[in-house]
Parts: sequence; structure tokens; C-alpha cells
Amino acid sequence: MRAKYVPILLAVIVLFVFGCDKPTKYGEKKMSIKKQAFGKTVDGKDVDLYTLTNANGLKTEIMTYGGIVRTLEVPDRDGNLGDIVLGYDSLDEYIENNPYFGALVGRYGNRIAKGKFTLDGVEYTLATNNGPNHLHGGVKGFDKVVWGAEPMEDETSVGLKLTYRSYDGEEGYPGNLKCTVIYTLTNDNELKVSYEAETDKATVINLTHHSYFNLAGHGSGDILAHELMLTADNFTPVDEGLIPTGEIKAARGTLMDFTRPTPIGSRIAQVKGGYDHNYVLNSSDGSLALAASVYEPRSGRVMEIFTTEPAIQFYSGNFLDGSNKGKVEHHVGYPTVGTVYNKHNGFCLETQHFPDSPNKANFPSVVLKPGEKYTHLTVHKFSAK
Ligand code: GLA
Repeated sequence: MRAKYVPILLAVIVLFVFGCDKPTKYGEKKMSIKKQAFGKTVDGKDVDLYTLTNANGLKTEIMTYGGIVRTLEVPDRDGNLGDIVLGYDSLDEYIENNPYFGALVGRYGNRIAKGKFTLDGVEYTLATNNGPNHLHGGVKGFDKVVWGAEPMEDETSVGLKLTYRSYDGEEGYPGNLKCTVIYTLTNDNELKVSYEAETDKATVINLTHHSYFNLAGHGSGDILAHELMLTADNFTPVDEGLIPTGEIKAARGTLMDFTRPTPIGSRIAQVKGGYDHNYVLNSSDGSLALAASVYEPRSGRVMEIFTTEPAIQFYSGNFLDGSNKGKVEHHVGYPTVGTVYNKHNGFCLETQHFPDSPNKANFPSVVLKPGEKYTHLTVHKFSAK
């Protein structure tokens, strides 16, 4: 080779090694999706765990059991990944005692009073599993079934398509219901959850996702310093059994007001039992709109939630009581308080229709008829500041 070409060749090599092929800040070069066996259910069904990684190194593990998001690692303001969802190490722990950590919830997220409703003149009786009421789909809701799974990938995202066929009469609901939920992790650092369902008989439906978040990292104590903003001027007050009274009440200027960013803990002591309320979103035309924004000051992590749904349940982890011993591994970077999850150690923001809608004529309808398609899209967008 002529000597004059040597510097050019060297430059090309240097560019290739240190330029094009340079690992990103988070140590990953490419998006990927991997599958591993994760055990068996009590009735012998195989459960798989899929690990989705985007081009920036954000990572989530999703189980076919309950469509559960077991881990979700996102960067803080210094680029350190932290696992920001509560969860367990093993499948058995999820099977034994899971307060819906990371789970898909269906057929009906939240409560239906006394487990009863009437549709087209027929009264239906659902499984009751929360005192006299029906909660989150009943005794064996969508959080406890094994979903079919198919990995997906395009130029800008990796995804997992989950499918479940719920039979006519399951937990008391009418109609065979075909459900598809697609989790997508995009290179814009979003976790999207997209739901679709069809029925062969008129029924009611309200699917949601039930991750408990702690943006400082799971196991780093309570979530009271997180600043929460909800694009909701109104909420639906509840009775002692957490069933909506039917009223739609203004939140502004009350203890329930999150129209401006407010630390979750600033007024929680005055809210009996803590927050466990359905907020009515200001945008209600079914288009994708900002519903919530959460900022955690220590890590700088921000989560924004966009949804097509009319409401969001804000639950401040009031029933966590130390009986759930969480995942051992940490990628947090903050003092770890311990992974026994105590009261207010995580919060949920469940995009949804209003609780007990089948019994409240003034609430938006949750009826799905044959020939119609139920759709719901929620996007969790992660950043740091
Ligand atoms: C929802 C409900 C809460 C509670 C949790 C699960 O957020 O609104 O009352 O049942 O789920 O523990």
C-alpha cells in the first residue's frame, strides 16, 4: 500500500472502533428482546420472562403470567439505571401474594359494587373478592392468567404482543372476550401499553396496568417526596368501601388538588386512608393526551403518562404493610432502605374508566358490544432533569 494512504486507513479504523461502534452511555449497542423460562403455574403451565432493551439501554422484563412488568430500568439525571417498579424475584411469590405489582388488570379494573350489574335487562353476578365488592376482575383476574406471547421489533422499538381469550362466564362476565395487549419499549424512552378487545356478547370492560412506581428506585423508601401533577380538575368521591358515590367533584383548592406539581406527601396525612381515587381527566375525547407527570427530586427522574382513557386512579400504596418482600437486586444508586415494601413505598397511576361505571348511568359507558372494538393506549415517557 502506498504510504500516502496509511493515514486515511488509520483514520477509517479509528472512526470505526471509536465512532460507529461505540457503545452508548448505558453500555448497550442495540435493541434486543430475549426470552427465558420463568417457572410453572400451580396447574403446570409454563411461564416465560421476556427482557426488552431499547437502544439507550432502558430495560424491562415482562412475564407471560399476568402480563406482569417485573422490572423497569430507566436512567436518572446522571445516566445511572435504576429499577423503578416494585416486584418480586420469583414466579412463586407472584402466585402466592401479589397486590397487582406490575400486572395487567381485567376484565374490569377497580371495583364493581356488590359484584352486580344489569345489562340489556339481564342481571349478572361477578366473583366478589374485596369485601362485598368485585375488584380488578375477581378471584382469578387477568393478572393471574398465562398470556400467549409473541415478540415484536421494528426500527425504533421492541415489543411484546400478549393475547388472552377469556371465556363466556369467566368470573361472572358475559361473552367470550378476545384480548390483545402490546407492550412497546421505544427508542424515545417510552413504555407503551396498547389494549384491544372484542366480544361475542354485550359485556363490560375496563382494562388497565397496575405497576407500583418509585422513581428513586424500588426499595428506596416512601414516595412522599415525588411531585405529582394530574391534568384533572375533578375526581369521583367514594364511600367507605371505595365505591364511587356517583358525584363528580371539583378537586381544585382541596386536599385532592394535583392540578399543579405537588409533593404526594404534602397533604396525605389529612386524606383518610391516603389517596385511592379516580381522577376525571380534562381531556375526554379519546385522543392521546397528557394525564400525569411525576418528578422525583433525588434522582431527577420524570415519568409522564399519556392516555386515551377518560380517567386515572391515583393510589398511594396505602395497603402495603411490610408483608411483601420485594426483589433483592438493585440498580439504584440511592441508599437502599430495604425491599420490604411498607405503606406508601410505591404509587400507582392506573389509566381507566371510572370505577363502578356499570352501575352509574352518569359515568362514561364501559359497554362493549359484538362487532365493536375496545381500544386503549397509554404511554409512559421517561426522562430526567
Ligand atoms: C387499586 C385500588 C386500591 C387497591 C389496589 C390494589 O389501586 O384502587 O384500592 O385495591 O388497587 O391493592
